[in-house]
Amino acid sequence: MSDRANAPETTPLQERLIALIKLKGPITVADYMADALGHPHDGYYMSQEVIGADGDFTTAPEISQVFGELLGLWLIETWRNMGSPKVFNLIELGPGRGVLMSDMLRAARLRPEFTRSVQVWLLEISGRLRHEQQKRLRSSEVKPLWADEFDDIPAAPSLIIANEFFDCLPVRQFQNVSNSWRERLVGLSSDGKTLEFVLGKTPPPSDFCLPDPDECDEGEIFEISFAAQEFLTDIHSLLNEQGGAALIIDYGHLQSGFGDTLQAVRNHKYWPPLASPGRADLTVHVDFEAIARGAIDSGAKVHGPATQGQFLDRLGLALRIEMLCKGKTADEVAKIQAGASRIAASNQGGNF
Ligand SMILES: C[S@@+](CC[C@H](N)C(=O)[O-])C[C@H]1O[C@@H](n2cnc3c(N)ncnc32)[C@H](O)[C@@H]1O
Repeated sequence: MSDRANAPETTPLQERLIALIKLKGPITVADYMADALGHPHDGYYMSQEVIGADGDFTTAPEISQVFGELLGLWLIETWRNMGSPKVFNLIELGPGRGVLMSDMLRAARLRPEFTRSVQVWLLEISGRLRHEQQKRLRSSEVKPLWADEFDDIPAAPSLIIANEFFDCLPVRQFQNVSNSWRERLVGLSSDGKTLEFVLGKTPPPSDFCLPDPDECDEGEIFEISFAAQEFLTDIHSLLNEQGGAALIIDYGHLQSGFGDTLQAVRNHKYWPPLASPGRADLTVHVDFEAIARGAIDSGAKVHGPATQGQFLDRLGLALRIEMLCKGKTADEVAKIQAGASRIAASNQGGNF
């Protein structure tokens, strides 16, 4: 079990943010998220064990190998539909501990030509997680390469996988105050010792294209992720030029709407989002309607969104579980089935 603190402590990043806000004024929620998760020294993903029983949260590939195996079958099928290109990229955004890639590549061995043709690219912000990915994929016959930026990946037909990646990209938040938007910012408490939400004094620029505040209640929040939009623009232009597909799986809503979805998790429990920055995971809900709209506008064909359970069912979850359970003890069967139920029910996913 994890020995993480259960009460907020002052972190080095918090001290740095407090000093910055004293000097320059409140920062956007997006800047706060970017630092709390990705600061090169003190960001959450840089400095500690984050995923798994000893970390703060668990993801679907960490719960059951079947998740990655079924995605491996989806990859083979999609690659065949692309005309089985002899050279292509398999790009994973935010590969965590490398478990998903390892399970997908094992399943893809069913088609040796897929394995011979693929160049795996891992886009990862954390040096610590890159090291884990290297260790896990060391024995794979496919040799992965790592990219710092999406643009560093050479142009080629591409299959792109993002599982629980878009939910950690920074969002800006806007609050309806007397039928006018004000940006929700991170500022300081009156004693200057802790971080607190405050409101910006001027309305946001009109090119942010926020919805009409009349459409929602007083105090309601609207979120925009410019970081997600940038990734999606890069994905659209690569797929438009070279062909391919992207599968995006995440917690999120199927229709755009209002609401504050910023949440923190520490030691597998909810945590106040502004407490102990750098020591808790921060996520937001992904707006699948906005993703689908952007993809359609770029000329892409959109399938879904569907819930993760529906998607895995269509890929043959029940059959794969039946095969895995053959010849196993009652205890092992119970574990396999419990894992399958969790990945079928755990979140909502979309794909296009
Ligand atoms: C919630 S984890 C998901 C891990 C993995 N996909 C899984 O399903 O187990 C988020 C991953 O995205 C990475 N990440 C977060 N922000 C990133 C960014 N801006 N660029 C590249 N990687 C990022 C994290 O370091 C981590 O590997």
